[in-house]
Amino acid sequence: MNRGKFIVVEGLEGAGKSTAIAQISAYLQSQGIEFITTREPGGTPLAEQMRAIVKSETDEPLTTEAELLLMYAARAQLVENVIKPALEKGVWVIGDRHDLSSLAYQGGGRQLPETLLMPIRNAVLQGFEPDLTLLMDIDPKIGLQRAANRGELDRIERMELAFFERTRAVYLTHAKINPSIKIIDAGLSLEQVQGQISSVLTSWFNDVQ
Ligand SMILES: Nc1ncnc2c1ncn2[C@@H]1O[C@H](COP(=O)(O)OP(=O)(O)OP(=O)(O)O)[C@@H](O)[C@H]1O
Ligand SMILES: [Mg+2]
Repeated sequence: MNRGKFIVVEGLEGAGKSTAIAQISAYLQSQGIEFITTREPGGTPLAEQMRAIVKSETDEPLTTEAELLLMYAARAQLVENVIKPALEKGVWVIGDRHDLSSLAYQGGGRQLPETLLMPIRNAVLQGFEPDLTLLMDIDPKIGLQRAANRGELDRIERMELAFFERTRAVYLTHAKINPSIKIIDAGLSLEQVQGQISSVLTSWFNDVQ
């Protein structure tokens, strides 16, 4: 049996990740491919507890280093207990965020040095990476507006605009050097965004079949 493929959707808050995942899910269904979806941080019972810590506002401030370690603790649980077992069974995985989020948010937004980030990342993931990443690239002003329309913003979503500008810049830097990351212009209309996703997906799919 062929190993499943791991497709990840990345981008700032309100960029349209969940909307894109619905489209990708429909596409895989139409191709008769068995898949699961995951979200990060979270996606396992223990990892969801770590997500709750990262998202909530408490009297005791969460340090930037503790936040980073929680992200990787949650990712270790998800990758080992859910993603890898699925892929080994031939089941595909669609991830709502994955490691690129940590590189962008912790490295860009929080400005943690690579000398801290990379050894942790390499130790936890040991070369494990998505087969395809769709980066929903958006001006954070537009993304945050879309997210705000949906409801109250969490601890991270309430960061200042410059935080998201730095995060976006790191996302784009990785997309330029890693050919498995495809940039989608997520600021366009829903119809135009769906058109871009559809063409990326079909051409990639034809290549991997
Ligand atoms: N291209 C688009 N144009 C306008 N609105 C859009 C577009 N794509 C998605 N939306 C709307 O914007 C909001 C945010 O989209 P969505 O929930 O897919 O983003 P997300 O990246 O998953 O957000 P979050 O990071 O908060 O999970 C939703 O209300 C969605 O219907
Ligand atoms: Mg979402």
